[in-house]
Amino acid sequence: MLEIRPARDEDRLPMARVFAAVAAERNRIATEPPVDVEGRAAAWDLDSTIVAVADGDFIGAIHLDASRHGYAEIGMEVACDRRGQGVGSALMVAAIDAARERGCHKLCLSVWPDNEGAIALYRKFGFVEEGRRVKQFRRQSGELWDTIEMGLLL
Ligand SMILES: CC(C)(COP(=O)(O)OP(=O)(O)OC[C@H]1O[C@@H](n2cnc3c(N)ncnc32)[C@H](O)[C@@H]1OP(=O)(O)O)[C@@H](O)C(=O)NCCC(=O)NCCS
Repeated sequence: MLEIRPARDEDRLPMARVFAAVAAERNRIATEPPVDVEGRAAAWDLDSTIVAVADGDFIGAIHLDASRHGYAEIGMEVACDRRGQGVGSALMVAAIDAARERGCHKLCLSVWPDNEGAIALYRKFGFVEEGRRVKQFRRQSGELWDTIEMGLLL
């Protein structure tokens, strides 16, 4: 059974392990390996994280970084073998509710232009493309990658 709830202390390590696995995919999130799993686990800001748990196993999270200016930036990851089953959508519903409860007027994010699954999820929830940052990120390979900036007015 899928449970969506605020993150707790016990989620720190599994969340960091999934984060490290997604980083190892290299073409989904900005972080690349190596990830200091224990350091990352200790550093999570639990107050701004909502997790997805299935039958007691951590399977995904969405992070909301609320600014002082009314917008919140989000980042999310779902374990590779649990994608395409509605987990990301359930996390996004919860994040939108949490952002509204915190009085935010807008959610925003950056995504790689070829991350089609993520872009489809964001569009499904009404996010629109607001621009493109050109050669913004230098990757370990030396390549310079663009990002698409997306936003959702709440
Ligand atoms: C992006 C991510 C969070 C989506 O989570 P998910 O659990 O797979 O998403 P869902 O199953 O709820 O799918 C949501 C929608 O996205 C779209 N979608 C999902 N995967 C897709 C794919 N591979 N290709 C095209 N569209 C896709 C569909 O429109 C789907 O809606 P529908 O089921 O109503 O048709 C997940 O793929 C992930 O963790 N990816 C790696 C990390 C990452 O890319 N994070 C985002 C960085 S910006």
